[in-house]
Amino acid sequence: MVEFFYHDNKDTPENFTDVHNSGEPVSVEDLDKLGVKYFHVTSTNELDDIATKRNYKNRDEITLNLDSFGGDVDAFNAKMKQFYKEHYHEDEEIRYIIDGEGYFDVRDKQDRWIRAKLVPNDMLVLPAGIYHRFTLTSALRKVKAVRLFKDEPKWEAINRETGRNSEARTEYLNTIAV
Ligand code: LAC
Ligand code: NI
Repeated sequence: MVEFFYHDNKDTPENFTDVHNSGEPVSVEDLDKLGVKYFHVTSTNELDDIATKRNYKNRDEITLNLDSFGGDVDAFNAKMKQFYKEHYHEDEEIRYIIDGEGYFDVRDKQDRWIRAKLVPNDMLVLPAGIYHRFTLTSALRKVKAVRLFKDEPKWEAINRETGRNSEARTEYLNTIAV
């Protein structure tokens, strides 16, 4: 089952793959207000429907674990560090989990971290321009996911520390403004 909760902000470079549940839950509706969409998808037909509706023409599959780096611990750790760096993209980021599990953290309007724990059959759509980060769980350290995209994927991550703005970021802020 998917879980949404506020992060406890007690993460360190050593323990950031731990649960970090503050005990304060978050609802799908709360996420919706941030433009984050959650879908529980149990068949390829459902997945295809969502893809068609949202105009996603392409998809691929990625596996992230130590094995996917041929056992190269340094390369794996470097990737983990990169994914956990706060960033946004100029396109939506969509992940449909088929094996393993992972944490997506997204910023709410007060700039607090909300953590989504995703397991198989969970799909999360992060809007373009939202600050987020990703990591594996300490328990499994593995995820296999489908990535959906429209045409050519723009996977570029714009890290928050660069302070770089863009139309996507400005537009996103407008969509969540009340
Ligand atoms: C990405 C996820 C990890 O950008 O946020 O691929
Ligand atoms: Ni990302």
